[in-house]
Amino acid sequence: MALFGKKNSNYISSKETKRISKENRRITGEIEKKRNRKHIPESEYLSTMKNPDNVVEFDNVHTYFFTDIGVVKAVDGVSFEVPQGKTVGIVGESGCGKSVTSLSLMQLVQRPQGQTVEGEIRFNTGEKVYNIVNTPTSVMQTLRGNEMSMIFQEPMTSLNPVFRIGEQVDEIVALHNPSMSKEDVKRRTIEMLELVGIANSEGVYRMYPHELSGGMRQRICIAIGLACSPRLIIADEPTTALDVTIQAQILDLMRSLKDKINSSIMLITHDLGVIAEMADYVVVMYAGRVVEKGTAQEIFKTPSHPYTIGLMRSKPVVGKQVDRLYSIPGKVPNPINMPDYCYFKDRCELSCDKCNGSYPGVVKLSPTHEVSCYRYQDRKEAGWLMEEHLGKEGASERESEA
Ligand SMILES: Nc1ncnc2c1ncn2[C@@H]1O[C@H](COP(=O)(O)OP(=O)(O)OP(=O)(O)O)[C@@H](O)[C@H]1O
Ligand SMILES: [Mg+2]
Repeated sequence: MALFGKKNSNYISSKETKRISKENRRITGEIEKKRNRKHIPESEYLSTMKNPDNVVEFDNVHTYFFTDIGVVKAVDGVSFEVPQGKTVGIVGESGCGKSVTSLSLMQLVQRPQGQTVEGEIRFNTGEKVYNIVNTPTSVMQTLRGNEMSMIFQEPMTSLNPVFRIGEQVDEIVALHNPSMSKEDVKRRTIEMLELVGIANSEGVYRMYPHELSGGMRQRICIAIGLACSPRLIIADEPTTALDVTIQAQILDLMRSLKDKINSSIMLITHDLGVIAEMADYVVVMYAGRVVEKGTAQEIFKTPSHPYTIGLMRSKPVVGKQVDRLYSIPGKVPNPINMPDYCYFKDRCELSCDKCNGSYPGVVKLSPTHEVSCYRYQDRKEAGWLMEEHLGKEGASERESEA
């Protein structure tokens, strides 16, 4: 039969799978052994920031999953930084590695198959700089919650359904303030609930998660995340599960809390509207790599990578009549066996002969604006490609919008 007659290039025999998993166990076993040593000296995981004004610096980070069908290069050489007190937005289609990037920073990637195998993630606590990649789990536990915290996408799954809200927030407050008395912990919890805009805080303290609305649950998650005034808040799609009015309230809340405790936010979303409203800097990811980064103004005014331009075009604009909303053709490639040319080439409407070469290097369009695309290696001028592609009218329209 035709189905079985022709060997599929994606087909892997059981013998091959066994060989791959044996090899994987060898690699991950070695990394785990190194990590699980007792008494790791500080010199192995302390580092120095390139710029002390940054809270986080991702430097050529590679996080892979060693699976039975091959190595998934979920994050493949990512570099960007999060300055103190600023919001950095990370955008990209589903599966491009946004969550794995943030999980790598929290050291919450599913182990042992998931491992950060190369690069440095430098985290600045003000006193010390940790290279998260080599930091032992026991030290990580003091950083998570105290110095950095994460707000997840689905508030229902982040809260435990069988415990009252008060107990859950109390637990976090007590864990990070072991010397506090029980009454003080409760007082702090009520304070936190009020801070995130919960009116009936004493009542909510005694409720179970199912008794609250989605927006309230997300507020509770934010309260838990902020209970210890972290230097960095990682928000992974914090408003995706919420309706637009609640979304606006939650974003407002995050912004005001961020200013109150002077922390930085790493905001992950595929919603460009949220990014435009919140972010100071934008990082555009595609298939595990950063294809473009810059200030929010640069990215919205002069999107330069064809992928970023595609994302901008697929965003509906209020008041503009279109027959059909644009969508980028094709889909994100499977991060196993990636080609060695530009990962976006096969979907790119603007690809040229040069794009057959190896993966394009970084071109600096301004001190803060960088793009990885062959089209800029000769004409290092932002904006011209957008003009060419959207037409002069479209480009100036975008400009007036921004
Ligand atoms: N535990 C895992 N084992 C194997 N592969 C994984 C694992 N977790 C994630 N991946 C792969 O890593 C890649 C990046 O996933 P990631 O969750 O970071 O995407 P994302 O950009 O956050 O997408 P979304 O917008 O849908 O949340 C995907 O191809 C995914 O299949
Ligand atoms: Mg994700």
